[in-house]
Amino acid sequence: MSTILRKLPPAEAIGLRTGARHSLTELYRPADLVVLGLGVMIGAGIFSIAGEQAATTAGTGVILSFMIAGIACLLACLCYAELSSTMPTSGSAYTFTYVIFGEVWAWIIGWALILELQFAAAVVARAWGAITVGAITNFGVRLRDEELVQDVLVLMILVLLTGIVALGARVGLRALWIMVSAKLLAIGAVIVVGLAHIDVANFGDFVVPPKTLDTAPATVLEIFIGESQAFGWFGIFSAASAIAFAYIGFDIVATSAEETVNAPKAVPKGMIRSLVIATVIYLAVALVMVGMASYTRISVATPLAGAFRAAGVDWMVHVIDVGAVLGLTTVILVLIVGQTRVLFSMARDGLIPRGLASVSRRYHTPTRVTLVIGLVAIVLAEFVPVLTMQQLVVIGTLFAFAFVAAGVIVMRRRMPHLERGFRVPLSPLLPALSLVATLWLMVNLRVLTWAWFALWMAFGLVVYLLYGRRHSLLARPATPDRPTHGRHRR
Ligand code: ALA
Repeated sequence: MSTILRKLPPAEAIGLRTGARHSLTELYRPADLVVLGLGVMIGAGIFSIAGEQAATTAGTGVILSFMIAGIACLLACLCYAELSSTMPTSGSAYTFTYVIFGEVWAWIIGWALILELQFAAAVVARAWGAITVGAITNFGVRLRDEELVQDVLVLMILVLLTGIVALGARVGLRALWIMVSAKLLAIGAVIVVGLAHIDVANFGDFVVPPKTLDTAPATVLEIFIGESQAFGWFGIFSAASAIAFAYIGFDIVATSAEETVNAPKAVPKGMIRSLVIATVIYLAVALVMVGMASYTRISVATPLAGAFRAAGVDWMVHVIDVGAVLGLTTVILVLIVGQTRVLFSMARDGLIPRGLASVSRRYHTPTRVTLVIGLVAIVLAEFVPVLTMQQLVVIGTLFAFAFVAAGVIVMRRRMPHLERGFRVPLSPLLPALSLVATLWLMVNLRVLTWAWFALWMAFGLVVYLLYGRRHSLLARPATPDRPTHGRHRR
C-alpha cells in the first residue's frame, strides 16, 4: 500500500521549471494564456449545447444554468490558480495530486484527465464535422454524401491540428491568436445584432413551469427523487451540469505553466481572466438566443442560426457558421496541446512509457506523444459514437476539480510554508464550496455516465498496477538527474 501512496516531493514538482529536467521552452505571456483559455472554451458548449439545454431541460432559464455552472467553475478555477501558482508544471491536476495525495490518486486523476482531453478532442472534432458540413450547405453547395464528406473533413482537421501542435507551440500560438480573434468577432456580432432583435415577451416564462417526464429517471439525482423532471428550478440546476462542458478548458491553461514566463503569477491571472471573459460572453449569447426565439421554438440542431432565422436576420447564419467552425477548431487545437502536456508529465514520471516524454530537439515539443494523441483522436472520432459521450468528458473534468479543491485545503495544512503566487481567498470556505458545487454538478449526470466512468477508472487502475506502479521513477533509486527521488519518499 505504501508504494502506491508514495508522494512526489514538492521540490521536485516546483524544480521541474528550473531543474535539469525542464525541457519545454518558455513561450507564453499573460495575454497568450487568455487566448489559450478562450480558444479552448468557446466552442460546442455555446454553439450547440446551450440551445439543446434550453429546448429540452432549462427553457429560458438556461441563462441561470450558465450562471450556476460559471460560479461552480470560478470556484474551481480559484483552486486551480492556487495550486498551479505553487506547482507550475505541465501535469496540472495530475501533478498536484501526486504531491498532495500520492501516486495512485495522481494516476487516477491523470486517467480522468485523459478521459477529459482525449475524448473531448474527439467529441468536438465530430461536432466540428457536422457544423462544417452545415456551413458548406448553407452556402448553397450541394453535397452528395454528407456522411462521407464529414468523415473526410474530421480526418483532415485532426491531421492538420496534430501537425500544428507537433511542429511547435509557436506555430500553434500564432494560428490560435488569428482564429480566436476571428471567433470573438463573430460572437461579438451575434451579441450586438442579437440584442437588437430581442423580443422581451420571450422572457415572460423565465422559470418555465416544471414538467414531469414519462421517461425513466436517468441522473443520480432523478433516481434519488424517483422521477424524471425537466424545466422549473430543477431543470435549470440540472442543465448546469451539461453546460459545464462549455467551461471545460480554463483548467487546461494550467497545463501550459511550464512554458509560461513568470508562471506563478501569470497562470492564475490568465486562467481567471479567460474564465471571466468566457462567462460574460456565454451569458450574453444565451440571453440573445432565448430572447430572439422562445425556448419552445429553438432548434436543437442549429439553435443560434435558428434564432436568427426566426428573427428574420438570415445573413447572420453565415457569420455564426464561420464563428462556429473557427471556434471549434481552436477548441480541438488547445485540447490536443493540453493532452500532450499531461501525458508528457505522466511519461516523465515513468507512469506511462518514458519514451513518450521525449522532446523533439528540432521543434522543442513532445512530438512523439502528440502523434499518438492525434492518432487516438482520429480513431475515436471516426469509429466511436463520441457525440453521446459529452457527459463522460464532463465527469472526468469534474472529478479532477474535486481533487483540486480538496488539494488546496490539505496543502494549506500540510505545507503552509510553500510559496504561493496566488491564494484562494477565504480558504477553506471557498475550496469547500467548490467541492460541494462540483459534487452537485456530478449528481446531475446520468447513472449510465457514472457506470462508464467507473469502468474507465477500473481499467485505468489495472493499467497502473500492471505498469505504472513498477515503472514509476519513484520506484527507482535516486540518480544525479533526479536527486530528490528516493530520498523524500513517504
Ligand atoms: N469548452 C469546449 C467547448 O465548449 C470544450 O467546446
